[in-house]
Amino acid sequence: MLKEIHEQPAIINTIPNNLSDKLIEEICEVIKKTQDIYFIGCGTAYHACLAGGYLFSKIAGRHVFTAPASEFNYLEDFLTKDSLIIPLSQSGETIDVIEPLNHAQKKGSKIITMTNAFASTIYRMGDHKLLLGAGPEKAVASTKAYIAKISVLTILAYALVNKLATGKKILRKAAKEIKRLLSKESINQIKNIASLLAKSDHIYIIGRGVSYATALEGALKIKEVSYIHTEGLSGGELKHGTIALISKGTPVIVIAPLDDTYDAIISNAIEIKSRGGLMIGISSENNPAFDIWIQVKETGSPLLTHIIPMQLLAYYLAVLKKLNPDTPRNLAKSVTVK
Ligand code: M6R
Repeated sequence: MLKEIHEQPAIINTIPNNLSDKLIEEICEVIKKTQDIYFIGCGTAYHACLAGGYLFSKIAGRHVFTAPASEFNYLEDFLTKDSLIIPLSQSGETIDVIEPLNHAQKKGSKIITMTNAFASTIYRMGDHKLLLGAGPEKAVASTKAYIAKISVLTILAYALVNKLATGKKILRKAAKEIKRLLSKESINQIKNIASLLAKSDHIYIIGRGVSYATALEGALKIKEVSYIHTEGLSGGELKHGTIALISKGTPVIVIAPLDDTYDAIISNAIEIKSRGGLMIGISSENNPAFDIWIQVKETGSPLLTHIIPMQLLAYYLAVLKKLNPDTPRNLAKSVTVK
């Protein structure tokens, strides 16, 4: 898992070279012609779908419906031959993705696959195929395939509005910042935070907008390898229930990039702090609401950068608890049976 986390800057930098401008153009043409678009995936791949929904809306002004693939069977009655399904999958073998794709194919819908594994079942189901190019991912907890999915989605969103060069520039900046986040100094800070949190029973992570997807993904990483119950949620949902669980010392990670979500998420952080929560802020600027500050510089892609401290935190929590992060209990790398 650690090796794959460290591969991420290089993967981001190679993605624009792996995807030819011609292929991007071809995919964009299909997307532009379609009104009815769906991103589907499971687990980490679903979080990338959710992130993609925000990216397409914000950057390309396009609405995309996103759903966990395991729920799509119950949502797909209205698919037609004019619908476009974009399944995201590292392995390309996830049964919960294959099933709804079979139904979509029967209805004549188009499919653009986004997989890491070449020639996998899902890859072969595509009318058009995008490869993630992250290289083989071995650890059960997906890290580099997530980053590759976000990179490809970012490229597509910018390409849809003829700003491919801007998309590529943002990826380069994000890769540089991730390298810094993987330096010895940054990792030492994460190790210290892991020592503080290792005995926690619960951790909460909040974000808004694109960082809502990061909150869900950060929580999945921490829970699957450290077995600490971790819940990711949108800052706006706190007051609708979960804030009842915050008491003195409850660790809460706040994802606060300097974008349109900043003021609202800081106001959520203040609400939690006033109830005694231990606030860990991931942001480019320190804030009085944070007890601990993890600095992540602005790059134009908080999706790519702000997840990194949580991937590391998950890994070091597992190591501190003497668990093997590469093979968490009850989990398979690829879920191929129901
Ligand atoms: O191979 P896939 O991307 O289709 O796998 C989907 C999920 O099973 C996978 O992302 C899972 O959630 C990871 N273990 C999360 O780290």
